[in-house]
Amino acid sequence: MTSSSPDWAARFSDRMSRVHASEIRELLKLLDQPDILSFAGGIPDPGLFPADRIQAAYDRAFARPDTARQALQYSVSEGYLPLRQWIAARMARDGVACGEHNIMLTAGSQQALDLLGKLFLSRGDTVMVARPTYLGALGAFNAYEPAYLDLPEGALSDGLDPEALMAGRAPQPLGYFVPDFANPTGQSLTLDERTALLDLAGALDMTLIEDAAYRELRFEGDALPTLLALDIARCGSIEAARTLFCGTFSKTLSPALRIGWVCGPRAVIEKLVLLKQGADLHVSTINQMVAHGVVCEGYDQHLGTLRAAYGAKAAVLLAALERHMPPGVTWSRPQGGMFVWVTLPDGMDGKVLLERALAEERVAFVPGEPFFAEVPAANAIRLSYSLPSAAQIEDGAARLARLIARA
Ligand SMILES: Cc1ncc(COP(=O)(O)O)c(C=O)c1O
Repeated sequence: MTSSSPDWAARFSDRMSRVHASEIRELLKLLDQPDILSFAGGIPDPGLFPADRIQAAYDRAFARPDTARQALQYSVSEGYLPLRQWIAARMARDGVACGEHNIMLTAGSQQALDLLGKLFLSRGDTVMVARPTYLGALGAFNAYEPAYLDLPEGALSDGLDPEALMAGRAPQPLGYFVPDFANPTGQSLTLDERTALLDLAGALDMTLIEDAAYRELRFEGDALPTLLALDIARCGSIEAARTLFCGTFSKTLSPALRIGWVCGPRAVIEKLVLLKQGADLHVSTINQMVAHGVVCEGYDQHLGTLRAAYGAKAAVLLAALERHMPPGVTWSRPQGGMFVWVTLPDGMDGKVLLERALAEERVAFVPGEPFFAEVPAANAIRLSYSLPSAAQIEDGAARLARLIARA
């Protein structure tokens, strides 16, 4: 008797109908070719990893038998206590009075987004996001089958009618925002927009997720308060806040450590801990100990180095765009983070442009389309300046401008 292979597609859960690879993943596989100048990455410059200090922290963990045994053992789902205490003190410095019981460590902030989706989203619930927004958040939330409501740029300062916004939708939406140096736009919410967002959240009884992945990478201007800090200033205590803050060491130490965290009211953290337990028990014990060892020594000085380096690269890209781009092209001017969002002339499609850019100019970027939860805008692309050198940025911007001019 012959047996045919199972019809896997028919066996997957309903939620998998919302989970698919984006077509740009295929195009971006071409990026491994050595002669491509890439603005696509959006990943940290490996030259900026504090490799020596990470190595020293691993050595310290193994230097004594008791710490070695602890480092290699299972540990609690909340996360390594000294690291949670360090994060709580750091959050307090940033206007968020909290204790270690308000912190849970996650496998990068990406896992935090998944667990928060699992905790808050039932099928058909509304997730309010910016237009455009971080595609990894959409990827995490999609498995929980929400309906999206995306806010166009400027909507928060225009004054929104909360009732009209939510017409026909399930109550108590979940909001997801990246207030500082967003991926993909590089832009930040102004203080007025942060205030308006909290007003809106209050009017809609909305839970807010604040994704602060790039917050520590400000290279220009003064820091603005986090949504969580503003929320606490209004409601008096983190226990009464509606904002859940997601932080990460991926952009500041190393993404390979896979260490992020959620900071929020204890009632939420306690539930998240149960989900974390069910998902993967805990973050790697040794990596948490190492991250703690590294942040305890000269973290601010290290951040200074990162800010100067990314600021210098951003300046090179912005100046090159100014010099080379033809009329009709506009772009964001980030004060931190890793991204510039370029709006192409009307009618020009970022995906088509990428195919031509790879073939004709050997330059790469990410088309804007996958960053939209609802109706996409085709005429936008994301450039990341974090990985290429200054010379590559200059050359890449010139090639890209040349292509756009003739496209
Ligand atoms: C806005 C944003 N949030 C979260 C993440 C996830 O990062 P990690 O899981 O490494 O902390 C990223 C990664 O690029 C990001 O851009």
